[in-house]
Amino acid sequence: MQIVILKDAAEVAAYGADLFTAQLKRKANSVLGLATGSTPVALYQELIRRNQQGEISFSQVTSFNLDEYLGLDGSHPQSYRHFMNEQLFNHIDIDKANTHVPPGDAKNPIVACDEYEARMTQAGGIDIQLLGIGRNGHIGFNEPSSGLTSRTRVKTLTKATIDDNARFFAADEYQPHLSITMGIGTILDAKKVVLLATGENKADAVSAMVEGPLTAACPASALQMHRNAVIVIDEAAASKLKDVEFYKHIENENQKLLQHLASL
Ligand code: GLP
Repeated sequence: MQIVILKDAAEVAAYGADLFTAQLKRKANSVLGLATGSTPVALYQELIRRNQQGEISFSQVTSFNLDEYLGLDGSHPQSYRHFMNEQLFNHIDIDKANTHVPPGDAKNPIVACDEYEARMTQAGGIDIQLLGIGRNGHIGFNEPSSGLTSRTRVKTLTKATIDDNARFFAADEYQPHLSITMGIGTILDAKKVVLLATGENKADAVSAMVEGPLTAACPASALQMHRNAVIVIDEAAASKLKDVEFYKHIENENQKLLQHLASL
């Protein structure tokens, strides 16, 4: 795991946007894995800005989102399809036909999960997967006890996750308790993984992910097994890590190495 500790949420978003920009410049027809939640919003705003200024293009991109509420169709304002359209797709030059979000209104969700996996495989697999992290260590909607090799499937949300996400729903509005989510195994198949976390309320989850044991009790700890995982966090989210100075030192050395390689 590469641990990048930055001052604040704005720096985290800019660093994440740089990783996606580099990916798109390297491979115009990249397959992007995308995420919802409040954390990626600033990164999406930065990508929109760069797209509108002509620095990057999404015209050849295919995307797959991590998850969706089961029981909400894509026109529902709280659906993750709606979120993605509003926060990113409506503002960039992506062909919406090439954007995929698990179908929350699938007649047969079990079959839909297998089809989603097949579509990712047909697209050649995910080049770069964006992730946030839940306070309980979930990634996508893989809640604690999720199988570490799991694939896209229907998952029941924990009470903690339902409570955390209740802020997006009106008091009398139906809030789903089920989801379709890429599995942990699906996420680990991405060639590169970029997880963003900001704020003190993520500090326990970040500490369990980075310094805790590899365990289904903290699904994000599975990223310890990934060869190319970058964890981009702000000082507040890093506040419960034991060895912040060491991670900063490593990152400093990484940057020096990159500069050296660029000068060759
Ligand atoms: C939801 C999503 C996750 C996301 C998490 C954290 O549960 N399914 O993919 O990482 O929320 O969201 P936030 O960034 O708003 O803290």
